[in-house]
Amino acid sequence: MRILAIESSCDETAAAVVEDGKKVCSSVVASQIEEHKLYGGVVPEIASRRHSEAIVGVTRQALEQANTTLKELDAIAVTSAPGLIGALLVGVNFAKGLALSTGLPLIPVHHLRAHIASNYITSPTLEPPFLCLVVSGGHTHIVDVKDYTDLYVLGQTRDDAAGEAFDKAARAMGMPYPGGVHLDKIAEQGNEDAFTLPHPVVQGAPLDFSFSGLKTAVINLLHNASQKGEQLSVADLSASFRKAVVDCLLKNVILAMRHTGYKKFVVAGGVSANSLLRRRLQQECREEGWELHMPQLNLCGDNAAMVGAQAYYEFLSGQIAGMDLNACAAMPIENHF
Ligand code: KG4
Ligand code: ZN
Repeated sequence: MRILAIESSCDETAAAVVEDGKKVCSSVVASQIEEHKLYGGVVPEIASRRHSEAIVGVTRQALEQANTTLKELDAIAVTSAPGLIGALLVGVNFAKGLALSTGLPLIPVHHLRAHIASNYITSPTLEPPFLCLVVSGGHTHIVDVKDYTDLYVLGQTRDDAAGEAFDKAARAMGMPYPGGVHLDKIAEQGNEDAFTLPHPVVQGAPLDFSFSGLKTAVINLLHNASQKGEQLSVADLSASFRKAVVDCLLKNVILAMRHTGYKKFVVAGGVSANSLLRRRLQQECREEGWELHMPQLNLCGDNAAMVGAQAYYEFLSGQIAGMDLNACAAMPIENHF
């Protein structure tokens, strides 16, 4: 089954052709980062306008690279939630137009389910059930993936997402948006024990996360130093911050693995590209004897290949949208459309 998938939930316009949920025939991503960088973060209205401009060209390229035409496809898939509403609407309306004109079924896909599905591409033998940590710019979830379309959140952040905390701490240290990847790189040169940072816990909800206090601690350290005219080592502060975030993520992952009894662990989302997180997960899973799956680096961030992968399983479970499909800025991962 050949699916053309469209992704426009944030600042990447993407299209891909994916066969049977695993074989990526093409994957094209047009990033808007250079423009949003000027403002230190994503400007929603600019994102929507750029999606409108890019979506036809990106889709044409995806079809060309897959050496296929609309006539040879079996379905159109689109990320319809969650994300920036104006950005999502561009993809949803474009996909509706394609489905209407070709007569193909339209498959709505949840963005976080798609992130998880990036692992079915990287690890073709991977099958649910498993436990998954989804760490992106907007979400930090521990998910019980009982089946491809049967997912339950066991824990989540109460405030900032892990990626958001990385970006805000990086910004405070003067790094360009999105700072997570820069902070990760600089942290490789730093001493992770140089600063003692808080490891916040959520009372009464041991699988939930809280990152805003940690981010504030970094900002306070920087302000105090600048008031005294001192210069902190950005490498050391980055390394200490990265370690604290990864410690918090790992602690809850271990707790959730023990609680559920799963022996298979999967990570997904933009922050799954973090080098310390990947190393620590490899080490922990080796020690515990757990099977570990991580997306290849070019599938960690937003792309449409992962949308095409998840769409295959949504289609098999009967998730076909009507022409009244709407975009949704917020939607739990448990929801069927
Ligand atoms: O999944 P994603 O591409 O978009 C959302 O769905 O939000 O995640 C983007 C997030 C950004 O916050 C970005 O800074 C973060 O992933 N990120 C990283 C790294 N690479 C991307 N954070 C830490 N270390 C990285 N290497
Ligand atoms: Zn994403």
